[in-house]
Amino acid sequence: MQETHVTLTGRPVISATGLFTPPDSITNEELVASFNAFVDRHNAANPDAEPLTYSSAEFIEKASGIKARHVMSKAPILDPDVMGPRLPERRNDELSVMAEIGVASARQALDRAGRSPADVDAVLCAASNMQRPYPAMAIEIQQALGIEGFGFDMNVACSSATFGIQTAADYIRAGNARSVLVVSPEITSGHLNWRDRDSHFIFGDVATAVLVEDAAIAPVQHWEILGTKLKTVFSNNIRNNFGFLNRAAPETAGTPDKLFVQEGRKVFKEVVPMVAQMILDEATRLGIDPEGLRRLWLHQANAGMNRLISHKVLGHEASEDESPTVLDTYGNTSSAGSIIAFHQHNQDLAPGDTGLICSFGAGYSAGTVFVRKVA
Ligand code: COA
Repeated sequence: MQETHVTLTGRPVISATGLFTPPDSITNEELVASFNAFVDRHNAANPDAEPLTYSSAEFIEKASGIKARHVMSKAPILDPDVMGPRLPERRNDELSVMAEIGVASARQALDRAGRSPADVDAVLCAASNMQRPYPAMAIEIQQALGIEGFGFDMNVACSSATFGIQTAADYIRAGNARSVLVVSPEITSGHLNWRDRDSHFIFGDVATAVLVEDAAIAPVQHWEILGTKLKTVFSNNIRNNFGFLNRAAPETAGTPDKLFVQEGRKVFKEVVPMVAQMILDEATRLGIDPEGLRRLWLHQANAGMNRLISHKVLGHEASEDESPTVLDTYGNTSSAGSIIAFHQHNQDLAPGDTGLICSFGAGYSAGTVFVRKVA
């Protein structure tokens, strides 16, 4: 760090955020046309089996609020013979694809904060899937940005980013770091089963970055972190059994449970009350009137879930201004969703306004980050 003379406060703030959006996007109509072509081919090839059923763009939008999703590898996903991303393996001396998109979002956050990479102490790569077990994605991102200090990976599924923010905030609170990057590259298209009618429409790819810093070194415009809270409750209702031990059981290596599987209805029913209560309890602990929250940047999994949670928190039906949606164009981007919403919808708020970044998902896991705009 260059500002060695600065007296640290131990108070964590969000100095800036960054976003990388893959240029290619798939509309519901394109997705369903490809899925239905797969269904036709499958049924023609398996006349004696229980026939597969068509998907519907209308159902997808109504059930989830999703109209399109960005992806890193569009053509193979839409090819009924492939139905999955195809990202050519890179040599070990090339930047890996997860690191590449993470770096793009991190650079934007650093630029927005006017922060030099040399002044960052740590990088957390917080995402629902890592491209490899080691070396950590975070260390590759750290090296690509020219950051000294340390980095490590964290995986808490859809809550990875908020868990990362609390971890970064705790480093600031403890005085162990002054500036921490939380990077969430989410190539969710790689774990989605594009042949599963119940879930093929859910996910999209993206990368986000959040720069968490000590208030003493933050840029004039920043968000004070008023409090963070994390919660986990074990559930099998969202699960992905892919892992390095699968090769020890090769007979099950290609089965659908090695991709994302869920009981969507149960998730909906169980997670909504859990998260709403968690938000209300945490607001009480922090002495914040939930009805006075200016904006909720909620996890982006399902528009209906967000409608119910925001209603319970605010005491009335939330407007798009109070609880903005990015689901329609991004789909569910796992841990990055609430950060995209925050990134795209915070500039218009006034100094003193309070809001909530909140994630929830597999584990179950949930995280809240209450913030107040400063300047
Ligand atoms: N196209 C057309 N119809 C479909 C369909 C598709 N792609 N997928 C399911 N359906 C049908 C079902 O067959 C069912 O028909 P039936 O009533 O005749 O049996 C009907 O639609 C309802 O299916 P269901 O799975 O109960 O839908 P849903 O309303 O619960 O919506 C989700 C599904 C996944 C969008 C919703 O449950 C959800 O978002 N849950 C929360 C998920 C979540 O947050 N997960 C975390 C991920 S990290």
